Amino acid sequence: MKTQRVLTGITTSGTPHLGNYVGAIRPTVRASRLAEVESFYFLADYHALIKVGEPARVQRSTLEIAATWLACGLDPERVTFYRQSDIPEIPELTWLLTCVTGKGVLNRAHAYKASVDKNNAAGEDPDAGVTAGLFMYPVLMAADILMFNAHQVPVGRDQIQHIEMARDMAASFNHLYGEHFTLPEAAIEDHVATLPGLDGRKMSKSYDNTIPLFVPREQLRKLIMGILTDSRAPGEPKTTEGSALFQLYQAFASADETAALAQAYADGIAWGDAKQMLFERLDHEIAPLREVYDQLIQDPARIEKTLKAGADKARAIATPFTARLREAVGLRRLDSTVTSATTRATKTAAPAFKQYREKDGLFYFKLVDAGGELLLQSTGFASGKAAAQAIAQLQQQGREALAGLQAHLAHQGDAGALDQALQHFMATGKV
Ligand code: TRP
Repeated sequence: MKTQRVLTGITTSGTPHLGNYVGAIRPTVRASRLAEVESFYFLADYHALIKVGEPARVQRSTLEIAATWLACGLDPERVTFYRQSDIPEIPELTWLLTCVTGKGVLNRAHAYKASVDKNNAAGEDPDAGVTAGLFMYPVLMAADILMFNAHQVPVGRDQIQHIEMARDMAASFNHLYGEHFTLPEAAIEDHVATLPGLDGRKMSKSYDNTIPLFVPREQLRKLIMGILTDSRAPGEPKTTEGSALFQLYQAFASADETAALAQAYADGIAWGDAKQMLFERLDHEIAPLREVYDQLIQDPARIEKTLKAGADKARAIATPFTARLREAVGLRRLDSTVTSATTRATKTAAPAFKQYREKDGLFYFKLVDAGGELLLQSTGFASGKAAAQAIAQLQQQGREALAGLQAHLAHQGDAGALDQALQHFMATGKV
């Protein structure tokens, strides 16, 4: 059974480079093959609009990134692989979250704050050149995550604050409207190397020092020959520490191969020869992927189809979940029961299980409906886990689970209302 939901997005604003491959794509594709995870990967093209004002570049990048992930082995049958802008529920959820997010919280977001600080330092208006899109970035990102109730969000360190904000938004929403969202956690891959770029600084688009993942073989060789090294001559021993060339090699080679290169450094290998070794090692891993990539990129219709199928899968979750959220906040049909305007919407918008411990030391649960009416009351369980299991059974199997649980039920409310509430959990798949 798949227990953990893992979700991550890739902003479609550039061309994937070796740093993306080693830091994100390769480990993520590997992780997506684990049996116990249910993965969601998406192309964050709404996010791209915040930084990129060139339509052709957004489109091209979306194609390149999609082709890259598929070429690197992401299996769209196994994972949910989609494009953010194919899910209209995402911007809708963004608005719902916007309304439970303090403006002051967004003022403190790193990316926005950095822009303001820069403006202040330059003596400009604090918000000069800052779009509301940049300001709202963390809310859109929270909507991405919360829509699918992801547990784990693999991201780089620079994104941790965004995940914390998503958690806070989830908690605020849950507090106001009932338990709807899972609180997500950032999954930071500490052992994954940060690759140096051509100039030895971190490989990054903003430093213009990247090696694109899928350039033709000869171009890859040329780029590698351009990696910055020191001026030690052939025959002079070289140090591996701080050598970009060495770190790049290490990210692709086995421990034995890496040890061999370290020895070659000590023995005074010429930089040109070391670069040739790196090139061959890199190309050995990349060449088969490049072949698939080149085929994919020439068949955009196929990628489009794959993404549309992914969107269908994603919307099978997003559409009913959004309906439930709309209901929760009061965006409701007018011919459904109108609750008194004086009762707050708090926690009454959807049926909810409440788990608690009594003074007798035993663990209990109850189920209340959208109006706070008691539908089920359990007897005491010896452990919280046992109580939680009973709840999970009810949520997954609905009425079917009732018979088996009779011994643990002290009270059962109106059969119709109970049925409706249980249906709600089965339909929304919230566990
Ligand atoms: N902000 C992320 C980045 O730039 C991309 C992203 C958008 C994302 N939505 C997300 C990552 C949701 C994880 C989860 O790297």
